Amino acid sequence: MTRVLVLNGPNLGRLGVREPEVYGSATLADLESAAQGWGTELGLTVEARQSDDESVLVGWLHEAVDTGTHVVLNPAAFTHYSYALRDAAAEVTSAGLVLVEVHLSNPAAREQFRHTSVIGAVATGTIAGFGFDSYRLGLLAVANRSAERK
Ligand code: DQA
Repeated sequence: MTRVLVLNGPNLGRLGVREPEVYGSATLADLESAAQGWGTELGLTVEARQSDDESVLVGWLHEAVDTGTHVVLNPAAFTHYSYALRDAAAEVTSAGLVLVEVHLSNPAAREQFRHTSVIGAVATGTIAGFGFDSYRLGLLAVANRSAERK
């Protein structure tokens, strides 16, 4: 089965508590179990992880390269300024793996600082604004892309 890492960045462990008017009332555990279920439907093995720590996220992207694993990544606030995460994400896509940048909200419709993604240009593609469905669509994209390559 095709493996996919679903990685969530800073403050996404606070889903359900954090700004529910923006991010909804469901928790990270709800998101992770939904992602496992969608993965199973799509023939993917999903491993979901979350960290507030940039270096941990960078390490997980290196692991994805070294193990040939596709990635669905919500870089959260790191989206807007982390060149370290961008460089690690670029390694993933340069290795021929799929990396989908996802967001629960639509950053383009929010504050100005959220309009910039330093990750977008090195991602395979970006899906934003559909809540949990952004992840579902991201997993669908990984499944379709990896099937095309078989
Ligand atoms: C987010 C959008 C980011 O701007 C924000 O910093 C987040 C979450 C989203 O999923 O909508 O933490 O990535």
